[in-house]
Formats: sequence, structure tokens, C-alpha cells
Amino acid sequence: MKTFIALAAATATVLGTAAYAQDFKMPVQARQGQFAVLAINLGILGGMARGATEYDAEAAQAAADSIVAVTMINQGPLWPEGSDSMSIDGTRAEPAIWENLPDVLSKFGDLTMAAQELQAVAGTGQEAIGPALGKLGGTCKACHDNYRTPE
Ligand code: HEC
Repeated sequence: MKTFIALAAATATVLGTAAYAQDFKMPVQARQGQFAVLAINLGILGGMARGATEYDAEAAQAAADSIVAVTMINQGPLWPEGSDSMSIDGTRAEPAIWENLPDVLSKFGDLTMAAQELQAVAGTGQEAIGPALGKLGGTCKACHDNYRTPE
């Protein structure tokens, strides 16, 4: 009987852990995916700013529009409590995020503003991209320095 209870408890723990990790799978994938979309479009614009790829007003505008679109995603559901890098595998979200939500939101607001400034100029010419992109990149770094676990 004792063995049975111990076994049942162990099974419950294993199942409980699996369900727990499963609950966070989609929000973690979603937030990492949105950052990947940011990085891809930053790369497209960065190539044009450096002159590594030819400036194309339409492509530049599409990239900037995509960055702005990401900033319009409601972030709340992507950051459930307990989905930090100390609690689960597969994420680099620092626990400090959940202790400093107003600051994190304000950093996301800085990203949003810089993205809109980039969107306003991306289609106007190659020279306009560099400065706007530099400003946007600064807002990525400001958040990563505080809230993303180093690799
Ligand atoms: C408000 C905070 C914040 C801002 C602003 C921000 N990031 Fe992040 N970023 C994070 C956090 C936190 C993670 C870790 C997410 C995770 O692993 O769950 C992350 C992860 C990433 C990743 C890795 C995604 C993956 O596949 O694991 C990339 C790439 C990235 N960010 C790019 C960017 C770029 C580019 C910008 C700016 C255009 C940006 N981020 C702006 C907080 C931010």
C-alpha cells in the first residue's frame, strides 16, 4: 500500500510537470516568434542601410510595416507568470520581467515609438533608414540588457 501511494504521488508529479510545461509552450513560442519577425525585418533594413543590398522603397516599407505590426500584438497573454528562465527550460526571459512590469512595458513602448518613426521614413530613401534603424536597435538592446538571459 505504501509503495502504491508513493508511486501514485510520483506519477502525479510527473504528469503535473508535463501539463505545466505544456501550458507555457505556446506563449513562449509566440513571444520568441514575434522577436524573430522583428529580427528578420531588422536584417532586411540593415542590409539596405549598409548598402549590402540595393535600396528598394517598397521592400523597406514592408519591413518597417511588419515591425510596427509586431508592436501591436497584445503582450499580456505571451508572458504568463511562471514562464521565466528560472522556472522552465527553453526561454531566456529573466524572472526580473515579472518584478518590473511597468518598466518592461515602458521599454516595449519605446520600441513601438521607434518602430513608428522608422515606418514614417523607410519608404523615403536609403539615407533615412540608418538613423531610424539605429534608434530602433537601441530599444531592443535596452530591454535585452535587463530582461533577456545571456546565451
Ligand atoms: C520589452 C523587452 C524587449 C524588447 C523591446 C525587445 N526584446 Fe527581444 N527579447 C526579449 C526577451 C525577454 C526575450 C527572451 C524571450 C524568451 O526566450 O522567452 C527576447 C528574445 C529575442 C530574440 C530571440 C528569439 C528566440 O527565437 O528565442 C530575438 C532574435 C530578439 N529578441 C530580437 C529583438 C529585436 C530585433 C528587438 C527590437 C526590434 C527586440 N528583440 C526587442 C525582450 C525584448
